[in-house]
Amino acid sequence: MSALAPSPSVAAKGAKIPLLGLGTWDLRGRTCARMVEQALRLGYRHIDTAEMYDNECEVGEGLHASGVKRGDVFVTTKVWPSHFAPRDLERAARDSVSRLRLPELDLLLLHWPNPQIPLGDTLGALCKVKRDGLTRHIGVSNFTLKLLEEAVRLSTEPLICNQIECHPFLDQSKVIAACRKHDMAVVAYSPIARGGARNDKLLARIGAAHGKTAAQVCLRYLVQQEIVVIPRTSKEPRLAENAAIFDFALSAAEVRQIAGLGRRDGRVVDWSYSGRMHWD
Ligand SMILES: NC(=O)c1ccc[n+]([C@@H]2O[C@H](COP(=O)([O-])OP(=O)(O)OC[C@H]3O[C@@H](n4cnc5c(N)ncnc54)[C@H](OP(=O)(O)O)[C@@H]3O)[C@@H](O)[C@H]2O)c1
Repeated sequence: MSALAPSPSVAAKGAKIPLLGLGTWDLRGRTCARMVEQALRLGYRHIDTAEMYDNECEVGEGLHASGVKRGDVFVTTKVWPSHFAPRDLERAARDSVSRLRLPELDLLLLHWPNPQIPLGDTLGALCKVKRDGLTRHIGVSNFTLKLLEEAVRLSTEPLICNQIECHPFLDQSKVIAACRKHDMAVVAYSPIARGGARNDKLLARIGAAHGKTAAQVCLRYLVQQEIVVIPRTSKEPRLAENAAIFDFALSAAEVRQIAGLGRRDGRVVDWSYSGRMHWD
């Protein structure tokens, strides 16, 4: 595999987040370690994991095997809502750092909101974890408009991003606008709609005009709006495909056409399942 040029970054409250990262949900064992190592060798400089993915040890293995310097890679992990009580959160952060075998994280997120624990208490602990040097930055994930406003108001440290489901089939314009208002980055999870982008006729047609695949058009549409993307793949050739999105540009007309695919109910991730089943 030949190395790609490093991906550009997006700035948010003084932090710099590489626009392209590797998602690792569902990657396990050797496959996970190998994909992380190969992605970094190829030029990816951002890896997304979570305590809930049960793969932080393997992500750490891949990071160390790649030989990439610690300062050159941006590592995000997330605390699961069952660990949102302050003492649990501190312990969870320390456990993540130790599983990843890193001196500190780049970004620690609250994975999903948890209405059973006061948000102020959880954010207090998240801010303390940052002040204690366990993570350089903090943020949230799956926060709605209302919760985002509340989090910004309650947090004593800057929240640099909201990681949300984001792809052309889901209209997230309101929450994106709120992130921009607060100078927070938007990190798009499921950015190729869990592979669904591959079958879309419009994306394929636009891709053909640029010599690109539908998945690449889908990712380009997001990064062109300075939205960070973290596509996941278990197949090495797709690592290169998903990274080759910085050498072409969509026209304003193409962007308008793609925006027309967005629906309020276009989620591919089931909130009730992903968010609530495993809290207790
Ligand atoms: N914060 C949260 O609550 C949350 C929720 C969900 C996900 N995430 C994060 O976001 C990452 C990405 O989201 P995701 O894994 O849900 O979905 P995704 O990245 O949109 O899609 C992954 C799926 O697309 C396939 N794929 C990858 N590249 C492709 C390509 N070029 N052409 C066609 N198919 C392709 C993969 O299959 P192959 O493996 O066969 O390539 C896999 O089935 C996760 O891994 C995780 O790190 C966060």
